[in-house]
This record gives sequence, structure tokens and C-alpha cells, in this order.
Amino acid sequence: MEGKSVIVYYSWVGNTEAVAKEIQRITEFDIQKIEEKKNRKFGNIAGGAMSAFLGLKSKIKPMDFTLQSYKNIFLGVQIWAGKTPPAVNRYLSSVSFKDKEVWLFITKSGENVPQGFIDSITRRIEKKGGKVINNISITTKWDPATNIPISPEEVKERISAWLTSCDIMVEEKS
Ligand SMILES: Cc1cc2nc3c(=O)[nH]c(=O)nc-3n(C[C@H](O)[C@H](O)[C@H](O)COP(=O)(O)O)c2cc1C
Repeated sequence: MEGKSVIVYYSWVGNTEAVAKEIQRITEFDIQKIEEKKNRKFGNIAGGAMSAFLGLKSKIKPMDFTLQSYKNIFLGVQIWAGKTPPAVNRYLSSVSFKDKEVWLFITKSGENVPQGFIDSITRRIEKKGGKVINNISITTKWDPATNIPISPEEVKERISAWLTSCDIMVEEKS
């Protein structure tokens, strides 16, 4: 894979963060978290789901880098009510993906990722000049009562296999 790579992700409960950190552990790519300005209270599932369903955008904290120096973006998102969360909507609408290649890692609690979900992200990235190369989806075991995310150990093998299939050199560290 040519050019510099960065992992960018949003995560409310921590599942997507666990996957992002596992990718980072293996690849040592730079990593950046998309953070919402407001403090979204755990438990308010309906509010989040409704905002996502309506395609709303929320305010996100300023991010301390641009994508300019990177060629490859590993973008971590999750499904809310079949759609992308408001913070992800904001990010996708505010960043330029010109000449970027994007690898998506998606977390969700359901079995499948609706094709419309991938199509919608792909469309938005293409509109901003980027290209989605590949994606992986991970089913999480999120329990709203406990908010305990999946552990990196649980995703290790799948992530490693995915990165290998993406033609990324993976050297396992002990
Ligand atoms: C508001 C809300 C809506 C959700 N809707 C869906 C959904 O429609 N389909 C699905 O498979 N998972 C859904 N989930 C589960 C999340 O996609 C899953 O737990 C994901 O791993 C959360 O990512 P995070 O831990 O990084 O925040 C929803 C979760 C939340 C909080």
C-alpha cells in the first residue's frame, strides 16, 4: 500500500474504538478520534437513533490534523437505526477526501449491514473526491445496560486477516 495511512473513528460505547485500537496496534498507523461536542448520555438510545434516522449532524470537536498528508484512511463507523450517527454525518460532510482511498470498518449489533448503509457512506465519500476500497463489519455484543464494549482480543484474528487481505504488511508483535 502506497502513501501514509491514518485511522479515524467515532465511538460512543467503545466497540469501534476497540477495533480502531487493534488496527493501530498491528499497523502503528496514526489514529484520531471523532468526538462529539455534547456529552451524549448513555441510555438515551431513542434520541440517538432518531437523530441518526433523520440524518442529523451534531457538532464535533475540532480535530488537530487534516487528512492532507495521508493517502489511506481507515474510517471506523457504526450503525444507528440503520444509518450513520450524527457525529459521523458531520465528519463526512466537513472533510475533503480528494484523492484518498478509504477502508471502512463498521461495527453493529445486528447480523447484517444494510447495503444502503455502505452505499450512503460511499456516495458521500465519492462526492468529496475519495474512493472506498474495501470494508469489514464486526458484530458487537453491546448490552445497553452495562455499556461494556467488545475486547480487542475478540477481534484480533478477523482484523489481522482483513489487514492482510488489504495487502497491508502485518507483523505481529509479541
Ligand atoms: C442509538 C443506537 C442505535 C443502534 N442501531 C443499530 C442498528 O440499527 N443496527 C445494528 O446492527 N446495530 C445498531 N446499534 C448497535 C451499534 O451499532 C453497535 O453497538 C456499535 O458497535 C456501537 O459502536 P460504538 O460502541 O463504537 O459506539 C445501535 C446502537 C445505538 C447506540
